[in-house]
Amino acid sequence: MSELLRFLQQRNSAPKLTAPAPSAVEMEEIFRAALRAPDHAWLRPWRFITIAGERRQAFGELLEQCLLQRAPEADETARAKARNAPLRAPLLVVPVVKLSAHPKVPELEQRLSAGCAAHAILLAAEACGYAGIWRTGDAAFDRAVMTGLGLAANEEITGLLYLGTRDGAPKSIPQLNTADFVSSW
Ligand SMILES: Cc1cc2nc3c(=O)[nH]c(=O)nc-3n(C[C@H](O)[C@H](O)[C@H](O)COP(=O)(O)O)c2cc1C
Repeated sequence: MSELLRFLQQRNSAPKLTAPAPSAVEMEEIFRAALRAPDHAWLRPWRFITIAGERRQAFGELLEQCLLQRAPEADETARAKARNAPLRAPLLVVPVVKLSAHPKVPELEQRLSAGCAAHAILLAAEACGYAGIWRTGDAAFDRAVMTGLGLAANEEITGLLYLGTRDGAPKSIPQLNTADFVSSW
């Protein structure tokens, strides 16, 4: 079996991440992989926002403010969780889908394309020797968070990709049977 195939079969998210994150040069390569996401009609319905260094604190403050708007009763534990969430990795990438009206490309396909780009980022980061995890949660669906990140009304957060170096042993990969998921018609 080719090494590349084995690599694809063993991609593994990393919930705990530490420094270093991919360098700017490596991120350029990683984004080039994202730009090869399948894309009906070549709409290029995505863009990517990076959040690193002290900007993670600022993003945490935004997450806390938005949490308080959604849930004014949120206690200090919940507030701290929101505030500190971006500090779980040295680098965050937010894949954004830019939705547009197209006679042949429904919004679902544009969102799927952005999801493929997000997956490509995770794969490419892992190929460069790093690790990552795709997270969402209520904040990722909150329009106030999107506005705070500078998204336009036709844009949405596809996910929050946390990138860095795996902290601890990789988690075991569940052994799934393809037969449970595949049938011939
Ligand atoms: C769209 C999407 C959103 C996700 N959101 C979260 C999340 O908010 N929190 C979380 O712990 N995992 C989330 N996950 C799951 C992790 O990214 C990851 O898939 C999971 O930890 C299993 O690890 P594995 O991908 O290595 O099997 C999400 C995955 C996807 C595709």
